[in-house]
Amino acid sequence: MDLFDSIGGDSPESAAGAGAPEVRAAALRAEIARHDHAYYVLDAPTIPDAEYDRLFRELQALESEHPALRTPDSPTQRVGGKPLAQFPAVRHRIPMLSIRTETDTEASGALAFDARVRRELGLKDEDPPVEYAAELKFDGLAISLRYEDGVLVQAATRGDGETGEDVTGNVRTVKVIPLRLRGEAPPVIEIRGEVYMRRDDFERLNVRQAEAGDKTFVNPRNAAAGSVRQLDPGIAARRPLSFFAYGLGDTGEWTPPATHGEVLDAIAAFGLPVCAHRAVVQGAQGLADFHARIGALRDTLPFDIDGVVYKVNSLALQQRMGFVTREPRWAVAHKYPAQEALTMLRDIEVQVGRTGALTPVARLEPVFVGGVTVTNATLHNQDEIDRKDVRIGDWVIVRRAGDVIPEVVAPVVERRSGELPRFVLLDRFPTCPVCGSHVVRGEDEAVARCTGGLFCPAQRKQALLHFAGRRAMDIEGLGDKLVDQLVDAAIVKTPVDLYRLGVLALANLERMGEKSAHKLLAAIESSRSTTLARFIFALGIRNVGEATARDLARHFGNLDALLAAGVDALQQVPDVGPIVAKSIAEFFAEPHNREVIEQLRAAGVHWTEGEPQGTVAGALAGKTFVLTGTLPTLTRDEAKAMIEARGGKVAGSVSKKTHYVVAGAEAGSKLDKAQALGVSILDEDGLRALLNETDTNG
Ligand code: IVH
Repeated sequence: MDLFDSIGGDSPESAAGAGAPEVRAAALRAEIARHDHAYYVLDAPTIPDAEYDRLFRELQALESEHPALRTPDSPTQRVGGKPLAQFPAVRHRIPMLSIRTETDTEASGALAFDARVRRELGLKDEDPPVEYAAELKFDGLAISLRYEDGVLVQAATRGDGETGEDVTGNVRTVKVIPLRLRGEAPPVIEIRGEVYMRRDDFERLNVRQAEAGDKTFVNPRNAAAGSVRQLDPGIAARRPLSFFAYGLGDTGEWTPPATHGEVLDAIAAFGLPVCAHRAVVQGAQGLADFHARIGALRDTLPFDIDGVVYKVNSLALQQRMGFVTREPRWAVAHKYPAQEALTMLRDIEVQVGRTGALTPVARLEPVFVGGVTVTNATLHNQDEIDRKDVRIGDWVIVRRAGDVIPEVVAPVVERRSGELPRFVLLDRFPTCPVCGSHVVRGEDEAVARCTGGLFCPAQRKQALLHFAGRRAMDIEGLGDKLVDQLVDAAIVKTPVDLYRLGVLALANLERMGEKSAHKLLAAIESSRSTTLARFIFALGIRNVGEATARDLARHFGNLDALLAAGVDALQQVPDVGPIVAKSIAEFFAEPHNREVIEQLRAAGVHWTEGEPQGTVAGALAGKTFVLTGTLPTLTRDEAKAMIEARGGKVAGSVSKKTHYVVAGAEAGSKLDKAQALGVSILDEDGLRALLNETDTNG
C-alpha cells in the first residue's frame, strides 16, 4: 500500500480490500497450503524454508491479533486438540471393507484372481481381458477422511468396519493430509487410505524414543498405528506420519468418475497424496507383470509394503460383483515373501573384524525370510543390544530385505519365558575368542575391540585380505579361502611372509595345484612394485581410506617423512583431522608395525614416491576446493577437472581446511558455512583467474 492509498482511506478497495486482515489471512492460508502441497505431497518445494516460516509467522501474528480469523483449516491449527480420555466412536456411513489376501506369492496368484473375476462376471475365454487398477499394499493403518465443503471435518479408523474411532485431532497433525481440498470440492466426500511411516522416519523416531528413555517400536506399521491411536494429539504431532489415499467412502451428491484409476486421479487433484506406483493393466498377464515389477523395486521403496492390490477398474463392474462378508469380490491383495520372520535366538557370538572390532552375531533357529534360510543375523554392537533389549533365549523378529545383511529387529518380550539375563558382551567375551587378547571398549565408542592387533589371526586374515586387495597391493588370486588356509597353517603371519612364499608351500594347499601356485607367486611378485599411496592404504591404518592415503602420499612425498610426522604435522594434510591424525600416529608408534614396514622394504617392496607439495604436481597441490551452486559456463565436472589437473582437490563439504569455495547461482548452505568460517569464496571468473595465475607461475 503506498502513501496515497493510506490517505485516501475511503476507497472501497482499501477498506475491505487487500489490506483487510481477513483477506490477508485467507491469502496466507491459501499460499501456505499451496507450499505444503508442493513440499509434502509433490516433494517439490517451491520456496525457501525461511520464506515459508515468514508467511507462517505472519499468519500466526494476524490470528493472535484477530482470534476470529483462526479457521479450522488454518495451517496454524494442525495441533490444537487436548489429550482425550478415549476416542469417540464413529459409525461409517459406508462400511470400510477389507481385502481378501492371495498368499500364493508367485505369478500364479495373479492368474487365480483373474480367473475368479472372469468366472464371476460370466466371461468366456474368447472375451477380452478385464481391465484392472493395480497399486501397492501399504503397511499401516486404514483411515477414512471426511471433507465437508472442502474442509477436513473428521478422520476415523476402520475399527470393525462398521464403527471406528474418531482420531481427527491426531490426523490433523499429519502434514501430507490437507486440511482443505484443492480446487472445486464436492459438498461431502470421504477419502480413504493408509496412514504409514517411512522407514527412515521410523528409524529416526526409534533413536529419539530410546534417547528419551521411551519405548521403541518394533516396525513402522506399529509406530504408525500407535501414533494414530495416541490419545494426546501433541504427542501424535511429533510422530512422522505419512499417508496414501487409495479409495472413497461416502461421496454424497458427488458422482465419482467411471473407473478406479480416474478416482485416484481425482483424489490426487484434490491435493491428497496418491502413490505414483500404480497402473491400469489388462488381464492376468498385466497383473503378474505389475507384481514382478514392484517386487523388483520393493527394497528401494522408502516404506514397507507386503504386497500389491488389484482392483477391477470399472466401478460399474465392481458394483455388479459386490462383496462377501466384508471382502469385495473385485479386489485382492497379492503378497510378497515376508521380509520379517519370528524365530528363537539360540546364542550370541562375536565376529572379529580387521580393526579388531567385535561384532555380536545372533545364532538363530533357522528361519525362512526374504527368500533365504537365515541362521545368523547381526546385532551391530552392545548399544544396539541394550536399545533393543535382546536376550539369549528370546523369540526375536528377524529382518532380511534385499541383499542387506539380516538383522535382529526386536525381541517379542511378551513371549519371554521367565527371567533371561541381559547380554553384556564384555562379560561374555572379556578376551578375544580368536586370539585370547584382552577386549576393551573405549569410553565414547560403540564397539568393543580385541587388543591383539596383528597377533590375532582374525585380524591378521582381514589385514592380509585388505593388503592384497585390488585397490591396495592388488595381488590377484589371494582370496579369503586361501588366506584362511595360509593363516591357519601358520604359513603366513604378516604381509612380509607373502613375499617369502615358495611353490612347494603353496602347491600343497587345498584346491591349489602347481599351476595356480605359480600364478599366485607371479601376482605377488608384480605387487612388489607399487605406488606410495597404495602402500599406505594397504597397511590398513584405521580411518585411512584410499583418498586419505593418496593425500598423505602427496603431502609427505616419501614414506620416511610420513613415519617421522607427529600429530600436528599430520593435521596439516587436507582432510586429516585430530581423529585420523591420532590413528596414523598410533599405528606408526607401534614397534611391530614399523618392523613389518621395514621387512617389506627389505623384501623388495618399492614404490614411486608421491609428489611433495608445491613442486611438480601442480600449483594447486594441497589446496582443497568445494564447488556449490551452478556456474555460468562451467559444469561441475569441468571445474573439478580443471582444479584437479593442477593438483588441487575437490571435496564435498566445507570445513576450516577448505581453501576455496567456488560458488555459482543458487549456492546453498555450503556458501553460508564458507562465509561463517572465513573461507575464500570465488565465482567462476575468480576461479579462472586463479587457474591462469597458477599456470603462469607453476
Ligand atoms: S482397498 C476394497 N487398497 O489393506 C477394500 N486397501 O485388508 C478396501 N490397504 O484395511 C481397501 N493398501 O488398510 C486398499 N492400495 C490399497 C491398500 C489397502 C493397504 C490396507 C487397508 C485395508 C487392508 C485390507
